[in-house]
Amino acid sequence: AVEQTLSIIKPDAVRKNLIGAIVSRFEQAGLSVVAQRMLLLSRAQAEGFYAEHQGKPFFDGLVDFMTSGPVVVQVLSGENAIALNRELMGATDPAKAAPGTIRADYAEAINKNAVHGSDSPTSAAREVAYFFATHEVNLR
Ligand code: CMP
Repeated sequence: AVEQTLSIIKPDAVRKNLIGAIVSRFEQAGLSVVAQRMLLLSRAQAEGFYAEHQGKPFFDGLVDFMTSGPVVVQVLSGENAIALNRELMGATDPAKAAPGTIRADYAEAINKNAVHGSDSPTSAAREVAYFFATHEVNLR
């Protein structure tokens, strides 16, 4: 089925001028960008987005990192978009990510891993709505 998923190009990848390279991978794999915005997350925005990780040992560092510079938040649409995006990203830890994936090629470490992608239809719905209004994501 055609799905939408929420993607974030994280501060490390933005700093390394990788926005275009990462978007190219999505587009070449058949995912379309249907909404996109560049912004500097506030701490409250980052904490709310990652609320499920509150209390974990890496939470404060995750919020520090995600607010350390601009990110690109985007909605990707396509057949099987949620799983396809996760395939393109590779494993959370770049050391474990398959060769040729975004994280294997561009990420430095588990806590600076270039991209985020929704992990299920439930989280995709929540995460898309976290950043975009309905009228912004129903363009195609
Ligand atoms: P992401 O897919 O954005 O979701 C939560 C993020 O927490 C994850 O990517 C990692 O970048 C980050 N993180 C930092 N440290 C860890 C860790 N030890 N285990 C899992 N995720 C971590």
